[in-house]
Amino acid sequence: MQFSRISFAACLLALLLPTFQGTIFPQTGSPDAPSQLAKTPPMGWNSWNKFGCGVSERLIRETADAMVTTGMKDAGYQYVNIDDCWQVRRDDAGNIVADPAKFPSGIKVLADYVHSKGLKLGIYTDAGTNTCEGRPGSLNHELQDAKTYAAWGIDYVKVDWCHAEGLDPAVQYAKFRDALAQAGRPIVFSICDWGVNAPWQWGPKTGNLWRTTEDISDHYDRMSVIGFSQDGLEKFARPGHWNDPDMLEVGNGGMTRDEYRTHMSLWALLAAPLLAGNDVPSMTAETKELLTNREVIAVDQDEAGIQGHRVWDEGPLEIWMKPLAGGSRAVGLFNRGESRLKITLPFNAIGAPEKANLRNLWEHKDLGSFTGSYVADVAKHGVVMLKVWQPK
Ligand code: GLA
Repeated sequence: MQFSRISFAACLLALLLPTFQGTIFPQTGSPDAPSQLAKTPPMGWNSWNKFGCGVSERLIRETADAMVTTGMKDAGYQYVNIDDCWQVRRDDAGNIVADPAKFPSGIKVLADYVHSKGLKLGIYTDAGTNTCEGRPGSLNHELQDAKTYAAWGIDYVKVDWCHAEGLDPAVQYAKFRDALAQAGRPIVFSICDWGVNAPWQWGPKTGNLWRTTEDISDHYDRMSVIGFSQDGLEKFARPGHWNDPDMLEVGNGGMTRDEYRTHMSLWALLAAPLLAGNDVPSMTAETKELLTNREVIAVDQDEAGIQGHRVWDEGPLEIWMKPLAGGSRAVGLFNRGESRLKITLPFNAIGAPEKANLRNLWEHKDLGSFTGSYVADVAKHGVVMLKVWQPK
């Protein structure tokens, strides 16, 4: 009797303790990553896809200049992000040091320059001991590095996951989030664990974006495997917190115009960060047209912040849909096949009304009003991207 009363009390205590702990000892120091920093998916440029380790002050200045003169900035691209290889060592006090040969004026002066163009500067580090290219990582220097970035005027940090053996990514990245909060400057926090530790589970409360896949390359096969595999992740994205299927390869030369249209359309339907990865100063008119199509960008940046998903597929054909603010829908009719094919969009597959108005976003053309369905002729590896809405 005595025993059972004690064990009943113990059970009760065990049941209630978590509740008490939450109320009496609230978890401290772990605010969610701030949502207002990336209300829509971040847009900008990053050095890695085109330049790899060849980063320099000159490249960043010239890219920032060109983002203004080419109209990239006006189209919404805002961040100029330095990826790996800008850092060389730590000084005696443990401060991270930028390569003086590549960045002779230092990062603070560079940030001032980028800001003077109305743009923002991003930087890169690693949660482990070293970056993927063997530069010093931020392990055990999280707060020190966050404070350095804040003092330099950095606006965006991508934190990679090389040389992080034995570490728990949810814990390590939360440490970085808290260091950034403590450093006091609004800095977009990009988690880059390549999707290997289900970052969509812990990423939304930790960062503003999290990579969902390993690295992209400038080939249709790789880009399309990544892009078309994102179905199902839409439930984790919301304003301030985005799935990141890696940066854009548009303009790097490895894909046809139709393939790059597929790349841009898919990323826009996925509400993915749009980080161009090309040589901006020398881009062709075709690349500029691909990167700055405002109607496609508007789908990505739609204020409702809902990530699209696949609604239908058959053989090489796929239909993806992204609900937009105000009740309209963006739709991608994709042909992954090796020849031109017809795709039928049944309006009921996307929850559209029986009678709907259509606009072709790549062609900037109103197509008129259709009843029940719409049939498009889609190029090999290409897409027809539509906006669908109810007539007034
Ligand atoms: C990893 C990342 C890339 C890039 C490189 C730099 O591979 O996924 O995006 O940052 O490291 O070394």
